[in-house]
Amino acid sequence: MLDVNKVRADFPILDVEAYPDTPLVFLDSAASSQKPTAVIEAMNRYYRTINANVHRGIYRFSEDATNAYEAARGKVARFINARESAELIFVRNTTEAFNLAAYSWGRANINAGDEILLTEMEHHANIVPWQLLAEEKEAIVRYIPVTADGFLDLSTLDELLTERTKILSFTAVSNVFGTINPIKKLVAAAHAVGALAMVDGAQAVPHMPVDVQAWDCDLFAFSSHKMCGPTGIGGLYGKRALLEAMPPFMGGGDMIRKVTFEGSTFADLPHKFEAGTPAIAEGIGFGAAVDYLNELGMEEIHAYEQFITTYALEELSEVKGLKLWGPPAGKRGGVAAFTIEGLHPHDIADLLDKDGIAVRAGHHCAMPLHKKFGINATTRASFYIHTTTDEVDKLVDSLNRIRKLFRL
Ligand code: ALA
Repeated sequence: MLDVNKVRADFPILDVEAYPDTPLVFLDSAASSQKPTAVIEAMNRYYRTINANVHRGIYRFSEDATNAYEAARGKVARFINARESAELIFVRNTTEAFNLAAYSWGRANINAGDEILLTEMEHHANIVPWQLLAEEKEAIVRYIPVTADGFLDLSTLDELLTERTKILSFTAVSNVFGTINPIKKLVAAAHAVGALAMVDGAQAVPHMPVDVQAWDCDLFAFSSHKMCGPTGIGGLYGKRALLEAMPPFMGGGDMIRKVTFEGSTFADLPHKFEAGTPAIAEGIGFGAAVDYLNELGMEEIHAYEQFITTYALEELSEVKGLKLWGPPAGKRGGVAAFTIEGLHPHDIADLLDKDGIAVRAGHHCAMPLHKKFGINATTRASFYIHTTTDEVDKLVDSLNRIRKLFRL
């Protein structure tokens, strides 16, 4: 099993106290993970030794920067098992990947009366861009329902997936319930009616081996900042033929082949979708994050997270009045969203913070999912490679103290 103490030594922030004499217990990796030294140093090295714009200069620094940036693309593409680097578009984050898909593919392919199928457990990033598209095109957005125990109700698929469905876009892992969805099965169901399949990998790529070829999805979105990499960069994978057929998303420098006053032609993949100076240091940091995760091993990471999540769910279920949302251990990723009768989720998060415990409270950008279950918010603890059983115990102790404080 992963040596968690060795892993912890890789993250400098874990030595920083939250408050005097109060160590940081960071349980919010699902929002944004911490960064290991290797990533911080890779970005530092770029700025200190080869900083220059990419794809433009005929001088050593620019060539070195271009090579480092493109090498990072290759690493990230291999990490999700894309066929080639050109199938990996660098975007700002998962949200931008969805906007790119909805804007570019959507506006070219969605017409009045067409259906876009999502699920009730989607993050707003995989809802709002499609709603904007549907409004403009008079298309219809439908949702696969979620059952009371946090799974997708697949019995509705026959009714919801029809020849009118043009795309099924769903999350691999829920950012609230942690549910791990049957990715291959859903992709195959979409293809069976001639629809595209797009997968939100934001909560999957950091935590489990990913294989876009085996899953056969057409488009796949994910963010660097949840997988030990920097903010400001993420990936949109697409099958080459699909990406080639899609019109550009943003226009400008770097994405063109030729520009005249009358019109423009566009660069080959992946640059067609990457207008303007990119996030160069961030791309290099993304590559370093992939190196780091590969070194630990994605199978090992997944196994450790299953271990710590199972432990956390067991311990949390002992807290009186605490309701855990989502599927049981073994069927979910490393997030535990909960409510405690008589306490507001934000108050819980605020009081946990006084003990140095960082969690997220709110609707976690999944307002419709919370509304469906009659709640406005949950408190969410999320676990990663550096989370220890000791930290889970601190969370549980702190929750018990909070309950006593409120005389519950
Ligand atoms: N999507 C991120 C989360 O779930 C921000 O917290």
